Amino acid sequence: MSLFRKKRIEVMTGANARKSELKKVLGATDLIMLGLGAMVGTGIFVLTGVGAVQAGPALALSFILAASACALAALCYSEFASMIPVAGSGYTYSYATLGELVAWIVGWSLIAEYGLATAAVSVGWSGYFQSLIGGFGLHLPAALTAAPGVNAAGETTLFNLPAFVIMMAITSVLALGIRESKRINNLLVVIKIAVILLVIAVGIWYVKPENFEPYAPFGVSGVISAAALVFFAFLGFDAVSSAAEEVRQPQRDLPIGLIGSLLICAVLYALVATVATGIVPFADFRGVDDPIALVFQRAGIDWLAGLVSLAAVTGMMTVILVMGYGLTRVVFAMSRDGLMPGWMSKVDDRQVPVASTWLLGTLSALIAATVPLSALAELINMGTLLAFTIISVSVPVLRRTRPDLKRAFKVPAPWVLGPLSVVICVILMLNLALETWIAFMIWLAIGLVFYFGYSRRHAKLENLH
Ligand code: ALA
Repeated sequence: MSLFRKKRIEVMTGANARKSELKKVLGATDLIMLGLGAMVGTGIFVLTGVGAVQAGPALALSFILAASACALAALCYSEFASMIPVAGSGYTYSYATLGELVAWIVGWSLIAEYGLATAAVSVGWSGYFQSLIGGFGLHLPAALTAAPGVNAAGETTLFNLPAFVIMMAITSVLALGIRESKRINNLLVVIKIAVILLVIAVGIWYVKPENFEPYAPFGVSGVISAAALVFFAFLGFDAVSSAAEEVRQPQRDLPIGLIGSLLICAVLYALVATVATGIVPFADFRGVDDPIALVFQRAGIDWLAGLVSLAAVTGMMTVILVMGYGLTRVVFAMSRDGLMPGWMSKVDDRQVPVASTWLLGTLSALIAATVPLSALAELINMGTLLAFTIISVSVPVLRRTRPDLKRAFKVPAPWVLGPLSVVICVILMLNLALETWIAFMIWLAIGLVFYFGYSRRHAKLENLH
């Protein structure tokens, strides 16, 4: 059979669809909270400083630009999520439209996105955590502070223990199931969003209008290059669509969750950027790792600087939680289709894919603890952008090939917005470093060996045409 055999949409939706093994407990608010959980983290708390140096006070525009690029992809995800509300997100959508090989590539890219994001954010969390306990005079032995290498003080490091521990702790939450994971996510999201609102509400009174002059010191190019950077701050909203089978009313609630969380983030980020560059002259952010905390130290509000550190630490935990969740659900879907070993989609009596959750969590924890990740972090953007591109191509394709399907949500002007989304994603991909492209090609090559060696022969043919 061809490499482009497709999954029959009728086996996934409609009256004859198979019943899901997963538990339906999520509503629209939970999905918005999942989106905020996945998005608000390192991006806003760390990259704001670097972005301000590149764009100046116009950083707010960079956030809006990056959000607009994501919004196009979010519209496309919404159309699919409302039409095929099945686990697996972009992987499942492309299996139905562009065929098995493309679906495999999307699934494999999403594994890179979610898997590396959990590991990279665990490492970021470890750094924040160590500086927090350092404030109390506590220090881990150097060997346990980072992946194998030599740190700035010339000491040998072997294993990033805090990154390993946080990743395993969050895996144990995921293994409890979606109901428990959602409760913890909702609680932590409330904390971090409350702090961000406080940052805006208090900070606005300390803004000095003269700091906005000139508003865009590096012109349009500064705004665009900062947008490519802060794009990272919006990554993760697509994980919302991987929850499809656990949502009570997916046709209605998935678009609300995807677009709603993105919109809220865009507004919050633009306001935070405005407050930050209004209080501190943008050039002072050079080389600063905790820009938002710096803003409030400068304003003399130390209690808020402390709260910002707390929000950053909780924020990163939910990013790990939701990205880790997305990872397990994509692998679940691929395994159920036969493209990954069958035990990876086995659920326990509480309807949780527990074995694969532990396996994937432990792998991510080991990667976080032992691989110097900075070189690989851009791969997260690459995996995401490739998935966005393919989904954006798929929407107009499916409108043409299956106009009969019921779409609860429709992308407006798909022949314009779909291609526009593709163009923006490709431009952003071309802005990534050459090493990222090489690393991604190696990742794809490994994936293709697996596909031709295993998946192709094990695909569940009865669902294909
Ligand atoms: N958007 C996520 C973050 O900024 C990946 O941490």
